[in-house]
Amino acid sequence: MDASASEPATGRIDRDSTYYELYQKSVELGTWDAEKLVEKVGFEEDREVWEGLDDDEKEQWARLIAYFIDGEHAVAQDARRIMKTVSSPYFDRSIEKEMFASALALEEAKHTQFFDLYISNVMTDKFPQYELDTRRGGIQIPRTEACGAGEMFERQGTLQAQAADGGDPVDIARAATNYHIGVEGVLARGGYFAKNRMMQEAPLTLLNKGFQFISTDEGRHITFGLEVLEELIEKEKEGLPAYQGVQNAIWEQAVEDVGYITDTGYFITADLGDPLDVDFDDLVNRGARLAGDMLFDTLELDNATARDYMQAAADAMEEAQGNDYGGVIEQYEHIYDAKRQAAGD
Ligand SMILES: [Fe+2]
Ligand SMILES: [Fe+2]
Repeated sequence: MDASASEPATGRIDRDSTYYELYQKSVELGTWDAEKLVEKVGFEEDREVWEGLDDDEKEQWARLIAYFIDGEHAVAQDARRIMKTVSSPYFDRSIEKEMFASALALEEAKHTQFFDLYISNVMTDKFPQYELDTRRGGIQIPRTEACGAGEMFERQGTLQAQAADGGDPVDIARAATNYHIGVEGVLARGGYFAKNRMMQEAPLTLLNKGFQFISTDEGRHITFGLEVLEELIEKEKEGLPAYQGVQNAIWEQAVEDVGYITDTGYFITADLGDPLDVDFDDLVNRGARLAGDMLFDTLELDNATARDYMQAAADAMEEAQGNDYGGVIEQYEHIYDAKRQAAGD
């Protein structure tokens, strides 16, 4: 180590690691405080806008925010599994990955906290059922349960458990694809696209501020996930036997997830007449472009094409149109109430 260099020496930590850089960015930029944010901006303006919305407009927001709060909660719960997975002997180095995973865990907890504060103080009329813990016999919010996102978060838990519990490179690739490409990279970023359109007609200032901080954090999480996947792909391409099948797993998972994501996109737009003008087709195109950038430009998957991906999205679009989401929400509302009563609420 060169003691005369302007940066202090490090011992076992590799400062040149991308994971270290991401961690350091989280330490510097990820320090926003959800409680301070709501205190500074206040709920009043958002409440006023919210009260002025028609019921179908409120419903559109509620469908979007339901999957955000349940999604943030689900990724926060699974962050502990990522911390474990990155210590896998299938990676050459773990320290810097573990450091970043600890930042990711804190940030996902904070995102959950922000949405919890927001719906409990602004969107109360649309979330009469919300407080049950999915880990304590509860279920997700009925709106989340009714769409692909709910299924996707359950799948995420299974995949992350498999990866963390002594998973091989294929298990790790599948879990990372679902979490960082599917949930964070397409479902969440597609959600930002939707909320930006919805904000044109219904500007919810505090909500927008929270989303800005959250999307900046998520950018780092996605970069981290793509780095992890690139490492695994590199080893597969080197011909190491344990890593064979990694690209295939990434592709299979991406295709499975596009089904859940497209269903969710339809659920928050066309299914209820899209009162705040998101435009389902624009949303699907946005999601496909995001996925294409990650799968084909960044990871350079050589076992699939963008056209195959679009075909999977198109199949899911067709399927979504036959769904009775409203009926399913009602069913889950009954289940939710029964569980709440059982919990002695
Ligand atoms: Fe998040
Ligand atoms: Fe995230």
